[in-house]
Amino acid sequence: MASMLDVPADLLPVHQCVSRTLARVEERIASALASDLPPVERLCRHVEKYRGKMIRPTLVALAAMACRPDEAPLDRAVTEAHIVSGAVCEMVHLATLVHDDVLDEADVRRRAATVNSLHGNEAAVILGDYLFSAAYRLCATLDTPDTTLLIGTVGMTLCAGELLQLHNRQNFSLDENTYFEIVDRKTASLIAAACRLGARHAGAGPDAADRFESFGRSLGIAFQIQDDLLDLTGDQAVVGKSLGKDLEKGKLTLPLIHHLASSRPEQRGRTLTLLEATSGPHQRGAAEDALAGALADTGSIDHARRTAERLVAQAKSALAPLPESPARSMLLMMADAVVTRAF
Ligand code: IPE
Ligand code: IPE
Ligand code: MG
Ligand code: MG
Repeated sequence: MASMLDVPADLLPVHQCVSRTLARVEERIASALASDLPPVERLCRHVEKYRGKMIRPTLVALAAMACRPDEAPLDRAVTEAHIVSGAVCEMVHLATLVHDDVLDEADVRRRAATVNSLHGNEAAVILGDYLFSAAYRLCATLDTPDTTLLIGTVGMTLCAGELLQLHNRQNFSLDENTYFEIVDRKTASLIAAACRLGARHAGAGPDAADRFESFGRSLGIAFQIQDDLLDLTGDQAVVGKSLGKDLEKGKLTLPLIHHLASSRPEQRGRTLTLLEATSGPHQRGAAEDALAGALADTGSIDHARRTAERLVAQAKSALAPLPESPARSMLLMMADAVVTRAF
């Protein structure tokens, strides 16, 4: 996460506290995944080795510190329950990525080869199941049934989001509402839960916990819109994962939905032909270039960017009533970074 941010000097202490917390979360993930079987151990070490941005555990830690701004050092606000919650959120996320790469037939994730490309779909499916199970098992070690209930509910919600997305593959009439429904479930639900858990385990009351959750929800939707923009316009060497997969798999995202809805019939017809070509084996590159031009003509990339920026503003406003603190400033910076990030 830190790599996404240009941390100013006055926020370095809070940044260090987050780094310390993330190191503890990483240790906890490693011990939660340990297996006595060498082939299982090797697969787990592979997915653990390639760290992502760690956004979800970062949000758990920052929400905790923002709720208890008077602790010194700041990460005294971070309890065992936060470490477990951060590890659980990251493991659930990891499980969805391992499975998602099977669905997308993706070769690259976090600058490394995907499990499916190295070991096949069968191993990736079962490894994803192992990661989900390990996450729920670790969660059950907390003596707070609310947390277990929330994580179980989020697991169902994000799988339902992925299923709704699957159901709508090649649906070129997909509307914005359904797109937001998918994104809210498959991505924002877990990010929102990370924020809520950070606040709840720091002693926040119901109103404050709701505020953090609502911050995470808006931020999570903006995060996925930016991810979808990167899939269309990003540089694979910078993003570090296979791109162009949404088009290839017939997944319509916000820029395309806007473009199709705002095109005249003849342009719409041309775009539909291009969309067919982007998921076929021939002339894919040329079709993608032509599509980029078509999206620019209707201002659809800008539309998606503006939508994500609006959501970021909405997220930030949810934290407005909180007292000022370094952790709160860092959360606001993270919100801005979600839509300017290049990876
Ligand atoms: C990727 O999530 C999948 C989405 C929900 C968009 P991240 O961008 O958080 O992935 P990592 O953990 O940093 O690799
Ligand atoms: C996010 O969607 C998937 C999950 C929430 C698992 P994407 O399919 O866009 O994620 P990436 O781009 O492959 O990381
Ligand atoms: Mg994917
Ligand atoms: Mg994506």
